[in-house]
Amino acid sequence: MRHKYSIIFLFLLISITIYFHSQNKKSIDYKKEVITIMKEKNIYNQISQKEYNKTIETMIQNGDFQEKYFKDYYEINYQEKENFTKLVNIFFEKNYSTEEINNIFEYLNDRNIEKLVNLDYIELGDYIKVNNVEVDKIERYKNYQNQNHTTLKDSVTLVNIGLDEEFYSKIETISNPDSYTVLINKYRALPEDYAPKDLQSLSINSNMKLRKVAAEAYEELQNAALLDQIIIIPFSTYRTKEYQNKLYTNYVREDGKESADTYSARPRHSEHETGLAVDVRSNNLIDNLTDDDYKWMLNNSYKYGFIVRYAYASSAITGYMEEPWHLRYVGIDIATDIHEKNITFDEYYDLYLKEKCLHSEKRL
Ligand code: DAL
Ligand code: ZN
Repeated sequence: MRHKYSIIFLFLLISITIYFHSQNKKSIDYKKEVITIMKEKNIYNQISQKEYNKTIETMIQNGDFQEKYFKDYYEINYQEKENFTKLVNIFFEKNYSTEEINNIFEYLNDRNIEKLVNLDYIELGDYIKVNNVEVDKIERYKNYQNQNHTTLKDSVTLVNIGLDEEFYSKIETISNPDSYTVLINKYRALPEDYAPKDLQSLSINSNMKLRKVAAEAYEELQNAALLDQIIIIPFSTYRTKEYQNKLYTNYVREDGKESADTYSARPRHSEHETGLAVDVRSNNLIDNLTDDDYKWMLNNSYKYGFIVRYAYASSAITGYMEEPWHLRYVGIDIATDIHEKNITFDEYYDLYLKEKCLHSEKRL
């Protein structure tokens, strides 16, 4: 009998020791200086009842702890991020919920977080989970989606391109005109005085020039086509802004502005001004490709770094009718990816290139 009591006693002793040890452990995990501050603020007792929490520790350590958000801090997943504690408070002040704040840190890049800091509360919804979201455009995405019955993802990309506004109504000046992956369209214009510096003549005609890499890639494309009995001839390459202006103005005179806009870019808006675009024709046609040659181009040009920029069914996005003859150099990797994804360059740029371009600009 006595033996039984001593076992019970021992068991109780061990349990109590474990209990106190674990209680102590919770607060022991905090850094010493943080515990001191906790004690000064009279919150040590409350905190030591709960599990260790790195968000709480960092809030206190950085001097950003606010009593009114005490319980909420526990719900915020800690992030190794500059200004994390300040941002958490800013978002609480803007009335974002703990769930929304966790999503902000999980899904948004620094650029978007910076924008959110300067805006009033926005209902972010599922848009926040879309890779290429721009938080300041969420209202526009919602309107576009309602009006056009697109998917949530498409509404983000199409509005980012600018398609909820008329073509040429809002124009941004391109900041990376020398990039081989520069996007130029009816919303984006080359700088006033832009001219590529590395133009090189094509072997077939010294008056036809492209930027060096594009010229070399074009020669390879033309030779590869020839091996498949496809004879293509370039008929328009680099154009100055003045020449593009002359072309466009003539078309407007002949055809009217509305019609001209469906096949000719306004000056500063043509890919030909970048020295990365070439129009090709079949040997026996004036300014077009035969169906077979077009098919070859769609299936092979990417191997040499070119895309058919205004391909079938892209008009709603590009604003131009189909142009089988207009090839644009973007480099082999990207041309291959665009070929596989089968989307316009406008969409591709917004989805996969824009962020990288903005980053490299920042670094300069
Ligand atoms: N024809 C194309 C759109 C251009 O003028 O650049
Ligand atoms: Zn062209």
